[in-house]
Amino acid sequence: MLTSPELSQRHLEWTGRAARVFRAPGRVNLVGEHTDYAGGFCMPAALHFSTLAAASAREDPRLVVHSVDLDETVAYDLAPMPERGSGKWADYVAGVARQLMAKGIRLTGADVTLTGDVPRNAGLSSSASLEVAAAFALLGTSGGEMDGREIALLCQRAENNFVGAPCGIMDQFVSVYGKAGDALVFDCRSLDYEYVTLPVHLRLVIANSMVKHSVAGGEYRERRGQVEEGTRLLAEIYPGVRLLRDVSLEQLEAARTVLPEVIYRRCRHVISDSGRVLAGRDMLRSGNVAGFGRMLVEAHASYRDDFAASCAECDTLVELAVGLPGCYGSRLTGGGFGGCTVSVVEADKAESFRDALREKYLAATGISADRWVCEIGDGAREIVV
Ligand code: GLA
Repeated sequence: MLTSPELSQRHLEWTGRAARVFRAPGRVNLVGEHTDYAGGFCMPAALHFSTLAAASAREDPRLVVHSVDLDETVAYDLAPMPERGSGKWADYVAGVARQLMAKGIRLTGADVTLTGDVPRNAGLSSSASLEVAAAFALLGTSGGEMDGREIALLCQRAENNFVGAPCGIMDQFVSVYGKAGDALVFDCRSLDYEYVTLPVHLRLVIANSMVKHSVAGGEYRERRGQVEEGTRLLAEIYPGVRLLRDVSLEQLEAARTVLPEVIYRRCRHVISDSGRVLAGRDMLRSGNVAGFGRMLVEAHASYRDDFAASCAECDTLVELAVGLPGCYGSRLTGGGFGGCTVSVVEADKAESFRDALREKYLAATGISADRWVCEIGDGAREIVV
């Protein structure tokens, strides 16, 4: 990854024009998985891993996107713009351009140069960080202004409609609204949020199982379909239910016999995990770190057993993590079926934990995991180079 001055220089050499540079982060989710599209709660935090986008306007109606890291350039005509992407990585940028134009933003044309260090296919939202960086950059080149919520929503639409991945709103939202040191307690129905500070004596350690995760893959879509099916069946019993968020665990239990077992379990995960977000917020605020950690392990069990969204490697990482000194709790984070675990660890043990986890995972699986002691970073913004 280039630094922002290096990226700015590269853009100048490539296009002959000075750029404005924007940064948007990836995220880790502490708890509340597959709750966003059910209108529930989640608790994501922005990471230092991010995408940097340098952009300048063009005179012709073309969007030309260059990735320094991939050493590839992809160009799109903006007039007319295709309705769907063509399966290229730059579709995330083009989809955002299309959504900005649909919102009435006048995009003349733009050159966008990208670099980033969010691990790809690892469940840390490299896609959302690319979309949000692109939105800030294209708004910057066009002189457009937009509220952060609108930006997050249009990035989600870009991913849903142009890229074709059925994601919810969590990743884009935290990429916009993240705050250093804090996680977001995010109500995905009202889009209200509050911050909760991670106690300073804790660190987040992220370990990549190296099993590739993708929201565009069939399993994410299938789970979402099951949650929507459950919501439809429950709405027949409980009039007024529009999202699974509207159903309590007691109501779900009362309806158990009329739901297919698989659908019941998927719904039980979503409703209970959404509840864990609010319980977790209160535990963090009252300093009950041990309770928070235990709850993360419960959340992992729910994700693994009720939602069937884990994999053997991620289960191994979690089991190994909770047996190591200094670890309060650990779980698979993100869309599931691979990707990373997040562990909450005592700060002075974080580095030895990270190294021991790598050793033990290597011994158990033969896989060498990427792993990091992470700081919680800020949301998207312009970088003055
Ligand atoms: C992916 C999606 C999000 C969310 C999570 C699961 O990251 O992009 O919208 O559904 O999975 O919590």
